Amino acid sequence: MSRLYQPSDYVVSKSRLPSFEQYKEMHKRSLEDPEGFWSEIAKEFYWQTPAEPGNFVSYNFDINKGKVFTKWLDGAVTNVCFNLLDRNVRNGHGDKIAYYWEGNHPDDYSRITYRKLKDLVCQCANGLRERGVTKGDRVSIYMPMILETVVVMLACSRIGAVHSVVFAGFSSDSLAERMSDCKAKMLVTADGAWRGEKLLMLKKICDEAIDKAEKKHGHKVETCLVVKHVDRVTPCGQLQEYTTWDDERDVWWQELIDEQSTICSPEWMAAEDPLFMLYTSGSTGKPKGVLHTTAGYLLYATTTFRYVFDYQDKDVYWCTADVGWITGHTYVVYAPLANAATSVLFEGTPFYPENDRYWSLIDKYKVSQFYTAPTALRSLMKFGDEYVKRHSLQSLRVLGSVGEPINPEAWLWYRQLVGGGRCSVADTFWQTETGGHVLTSLPGATPMKPGAAGFPFFGVEPALLDEGGQLISGEGEGYLVFARPWPGLMRTLYGDHQRYEQVYFSKFPGYYCTGDGARRDEDGFLWVTGRVDDMLNVSGHLMSTAEVEGVLTEEPRVAEAAVVSRPHPIKGEALYCFITTTDGAHFDQSLVDALKKLVRARIGAFAVPDTIQYAPGLPKTRSGKIMRRILRKIALNDTDIGDTSTLADPAVVEQLFKNRP
Ligand code: WTA
Repeated sequence: MSRLYQPSDYVVSKSRLPSFEQYKEMHKRSLEDPEGFWSEIAKEFYWQTPAEPGNFVSYNFDINKGKVFTKWLDGAVTNVCFNLLDRNVRNGHGDKIAYYWEGNHPDDYSRITYRKLKDLVCQCANGLRERGVTKGDRVSIYMPMILETVVVMLACSRIGAVHSVVFAGFSSDSLAERMSDCKAKMLVTADGAWRGEKLLMLKKICDEAIDKAEKKHGHKVETCLVVKHVDRVTPCGQLQEYTTWDDERDVWWQELIDEQSTICSPEWMAAEDPLFMLYTSGSTGKPKGVLHTTAGYLLYATTTFRYVFDYQDKDVYWCTADVGWITGHTYVVYAPLANAATSVLFEGTPFYPENDRYWSLIDKYKVSQFYTAPTALRSLMKFGDEYVKRHSLQSLRVLGSVGEPINPEAWLWYRQLVGGGRCSVADTFWQTETGGHVLTSLPGATPMKPGAAGFPFFGVEPALLDEGGQLISGEGEGYLVFARPWPGLMRTLYGDHQRYEQVYFSKFPGYYCTGDGARRDEDGFLWVTGRVDDMLNVSGHLMSTAEVEGVLTEEPRVAEAAVVSRPHPIKGEALYCFITTTDGAHFDQSLVDALKKLVRARIGAFAVPDTIQYAPGLPKTRSGKIMRRILRKIALNDTDIGDTSTLADPAVVEQLFKNRP
């Protein structure tokens, strides 16, 4: 049995929701009267046309009863950017700091108020319009963590364009595929960016991607908008050397945007008009364009932020996630701004110039809410406690965790050492698809257990199902599903509603299926146990085994590839690959190097496998299905492999144990 932690008196005394009973009551109300619950929050926002009473939510989760859909506030008309900026400026927050921006180098920092941010967003929106971007057009964004990234995302939402941010660690192949899939009209990037001591050639990667989009996928990107970023701080000439410039297509941000008017009328959007899309890995390999819409996402992002981080007026909040992931969308951009919060936006890494950068920034900006990933915590833990102890960290009140299950050891380190034993830890479980937190603890309200995501957020009704689709009530473990939509749930996969229904709603009709397993313990806590499909989570980056196998088999010397996950002390999981070679080909170091290079080129550096093992054959059933369960055991060097009666050739297994590198 794991220990129960109660919120400290300090956290409770500051909390807007200071008791477990209150949480339970509010959660109950959110399920019994969704319209009453959410319309109260909707009142804070500006609506060109408000939602009609009685028409607040409609949905069908049962694929057997027809098309799966979800609608919130149907008929309402608004603009998200207007609500994040103009509304806050009108409400007296014009001079409030929206972001403290901290560059990779500690001497490079700035700040921006809500008023100034609004001006910049309007200028950018006018610039986008000048280049022909209009409502419904897709804009791909491949950017470092700089203010212009936030600006261009909001500029899109101001004019009704749909942004598709691609994490700037993806390769040019991945970027080309994503731009082509959504037929992006424009790509926004920067000349480059520093990450620690490494210079990333962003424009160069974009040049390659635009070229590949055209040659491989037949899609032409009309405009490439480029922020002069690296060249601004450290003109180094290095970038120009590698970058090409196409006068028709390419335009400097500073030339297009700086002279634009700071007045830009927003495009009024229907509640269910698209706000943005974001690609996430799919178990068949092809990325899925998760689509979020306007009104429901705004309500849900706002509410989760307010309660999960217990953000209050004078607080300074910092989420370390890159804007290229959903955490960066909801909890770096949309939710903090909707709450008129002050945030830190950090370009660099936790290890530069020293391994205490995070802790030193918490003191520099007096951060009260800090939100990061278990993989970052584990990699910082290994440097020892001294780096943390150099700093006061007294400003902290709430610590958040996201992206993967947090191991109790890291949880305790986070709470005791970083949080001084006084902070609450919110282990937030959610997905690109869920738009915002769905299971979490709430700082002043819920008790915590190290490693448990805890309880459903308002409006969320989780359930555990067994393989046959039967509900598991009380204690037990099963598939984690949700019985109804909350406002932030994605509405479709871009251009492929059938895949949406098939992936998320076909296994258990009537439920949204997360693809994760979970356990409910004797106290009602939910523990997310990890993916139950062929997906794996390396340092919080979700990828599918099929995606990596697809790349490995592109190499002509490879006949067959099977990828499994192996637990890793820092990354959470790591890729372990088995390779059979084609006739006459040799498995040697040059092949291993070539395969690593290929994965880096096709997907990105974060997907490069830790281990590649030669396999004379793969363990298969008589019907030819690879038995991954056995491969996982081999990766672990665990010879207790259980029942092997369905194996076509048991001798293969022995060989594979012998061949472990
Ligand atoms: C995993 C990231 C356990 C899970 C926001 C999920 C977690 C996938 C947690 C989504 C958590 C995320 N505890 N597992 N607190 N948070 N996951 O789409 O497997 O990048 O399905 O969204 O990460 O990853 P995604």
